[in-house]
Amino acid sequence: MDGNPTALPREPVLELDDIQSGALHERPSPYVGAYLLLRIDDRAAGRELVRRLHPLVDSGRPSADPAHDAWITVAFTYQGLKALGVPQDSLDSFAPEFRQGMAARAAELGDVGESSPANWEHPLGTGEVHVALAAISPDAARLERVLDRARRAHQELPGVELIWRQDCYQLPTGRTSFGFKDGIGQPAVEGSGIPPTNPKERPLKAGEIILGYPDETGELPPMPSPDVLGHNGTYVVFRKLHTRVAAYRHYLRARAASREGEALLGAKMLGRWQSGAPLALTPERDDAELGADPRRNNDFLYGDDPRGFKCPVGSHARRANPRDALEHDGSVDVRLHRMIRRGTSYGPMLPEGVLDDDGVDRGIIFVFAGAHLRRQFEFVKTQWLNDGIFIGAPAEKDPIIGSNGGSGSFTIPQRPIRRRLTELPPFVVTRGGEYCFAPGLRALRWLAELET
Ligand code: HEM
Repeated sequence: MDGNPTALPREPVLELDDIQSGALHERPSPYVGAYLLLRIDDRAAGRELVRRLHPLVDSGRPSADPAHDAWITVAFTYQGLKALGVPQDSLDSFAPEFRQGMAARAAELGDVGESSPANWEHPLGTGEVHVALAAISPDAARLERVLDRARRAHQELPGVELIWRQDCYQLPTGRTSFGFKDGIGQPAVEGSGIPPTNPKERPLKAGEIILGYPDETGELPPMPSPDVLGHNGTYVVFRKLHTRVAAYRHYLRARAASREGEALLGAKMLGRWQSGAPLALTPERDDAELGADPRRNNDFLYGDDPRGFKCPVGSHARRANPRDALEHDGSVDVRLHRMIRRGTSYGPMLPEGVLDDDGVDRGIIFVFAGAHLRRQFEFVKTQWLNDGIFIGAPAEKDPIIGSNGGSGSFTIPQRPIRRRLTELPPFVVTRGGEYCFAPGLRALRWLAELET
């Protein structure tokens, strides 16, 4: 205690030097990247891989030198930790959803029909995925250098196999395949050093994102043991989401009388205009300057628009983070359901104006980082995106990413009477994914030095 009786307890200091860059560090913009998945067939080789990756991850720490802005994040599935020989009592201390893996959670997550694990891209969801690497860099030349270092880490290790690679990128505009700028709404995290983008929201307690620190409940989140393994780690969700851009454009064209009408319908479904400008701040027309301004484009709440006349309560961004809109409902604390997102595009964009499907695979590699798989990622996906009970529309799912099967509907509140869009088809198909754990740097060393 210091001498001042009114002083508040000090916040624990986040050990930024031990936390992998991927969780808290903003990616450069634009960037190119690659996701690599590896299988460990031999325990000793797996540990050697981790030993070799450690300095690559370490060198990705935030740096003031822009030439340095290329890094690797490493994460392990439950099967991966098992393959490394992590003792059973430690494996048992991980979150149950992580232990089950994403494929086993498919029914719950709405990954059914075309999106079900039976149709996933090999090897996603098979249990063969042990290590996930993300390499991120502002340009192709630097990416190649980082990838080369990663290659040296796993090549000539007979017991480790590269089983999947997915290239990805972020356009200079930040727009993804449906045409919308993404990656705007992120929570601020206490102690991260990254300034909040929404001055109307208090930063989240660090324990919401990084294990080993108090979270919003004032408690330490359940953390895998031993401490050296869990501390400064975070759970990571990785999903390859194919987007049906032509079907989406067709849908808008069939329901709007003009191009402006299509843009408005698209914005109503998403909650933001394509430029990133939020409907909450500019409900009638897009404002490209606002969309591009990081000091303003996330500076809003929904409290002055309870019925959703400006931004529909069922739109994607408002469902995914209702901000202050659920405050009247004491049973839901929105702050317990936030997440860090690192979405990236894969596949070429469908050229502007094209309405016919060209058969090319394109979409988003969705990445979540947070301390609570169940009450953050799974809650948002199941209760808010794939269900409408919380907004008083039980039959409605997210109009863009909900598991709509051709009979989905979406309500746009407006006067004199609301508009209801019907026959929503699925615009997003899950191609696969994994639940991972991204350990801190000390934990990586611990994994490399295991002697079981
Ligand atoms: C192909 C699938 C998806 C697309 C195209 C998509 C697109 C977008 C876009 C354009 C935004 C608005 C820009 C922003 O605030 O960053 C957004 C926001 C958001 N999305 Fe998604 N998204 C997808 C999947 C998901 C999934 C699976 C989740 C979570 C389970 C999710 C959670 C969120 C959250 C939390 C926000 C921020 C809301 C806010 O803070 O205002 N999204 N998404």
